Amino acid sequence: MRSTGPVPMSDETHDRDANDTANDTANDTANDGGPTVDDVPVTDQGDTADSEQTTDEQTVEAEVVAEVVETAPEEGTSPDPDEEIEAEEAEEAEAEADAAGEPEPEPEPGVLVTIDGREHRAQPGQLVIDACQAAGSYVPHFCYHPRMTPVGMCRQCLVEVEGPRGTMMVVSCMTPVAEGQVVNTATPTVKRAQEGVLELLLANHPLDCPVCDKGGECPLQDQAFSHGPGESRYLEQKRHYEKPIPISELVYLDRERCILCDRCTRFADEVAGDKLIKFVSRGNDTQVMTFPDEPF
Ligand code: SF4
Ligand code: FES
Repeated sequence: MRSTGPVPMSDETHDRDANDTANDTANDTANDGGPTVDDVPVTDQGDTADSEQTTDEQTVEAEVVAEVVETAPEEGTSPDPDEEIEAEEAEEAEAEADAAGEPEPEPEPGVLVTIDGREHRAQPGQLVIDACQAAGSYVPHFCYHPRMTPVGMCRQCLVEVEGPRGTMMVVSCMTPVAEGQVVNTATPTVKRAQEGVLELLLANHPLDCPVCDKGGECPLQDQAFSHGPGESRYLEQKRHYEKPIPISELVYLDRERCILCDRCTRFADEVAGDKLIKFVSRGNDTQVMTFPDEPF
């Protein structure tokens, strides 16, 4: 009668089984992407004393397999799609956090103003008259010159500015731009104001352009045509002075044509550096004059 119990393994059989186990494990690792716990060979503790070499090999083998088992995914498992989505969402959130943490892009330099309905970036501190010019809106003027100190003498450069206190008429050569300012240079109100100023400037000016040496190249004549009322309501006698008077060998002064724009006096002071021409008297008698004891 045959025994049905377990057959005791000989040393040779044990070595063969150990080799088979190692081969199987290597094959499993190569074919399946990694061994599982089931693939780890179980050593028979009773046989350890029989062969030191076999025990060493088995120990090394077991360590390698255990390491592989530790780092490899379980057999038959695949990455969880939910986990993948969560990882992607985390990456996106991190990228958004990075973006939010970055400094805001620098605002465009300059002062944003609206001139005649068009947005324009002006230089900080720039005068409204210069900003209008840069934006393509011409503002008539006489006393203003970009290279001399503005004085606001002629009042010809009036424009409308919409501000927190409502719409105001301002002298554009004396008003700096401000953020959000709305400037209008050609409304009916502005046009009426500019015509009124020109009418006053011409009140005492002789209307003799056809015989004037500056006729055809005179800013007053040009702007009387472009921004003037076209006719005068003044019928009274104009102011008269002796004319022309020589103030130097080359310069003659015609005070009847003077509109008191202060350009010649500022030029002498700020550009030539010699204050030899000034305003004298006051009110209706204000006039340009040189100093009696000093040549011009
Ligand atoms: S004389 Fe002088 S102040 Fe008078 S209009 Fe000429 S530049 Fe102006
Ligand atoms: S140009 Fe502005 S007041 Fe003369």
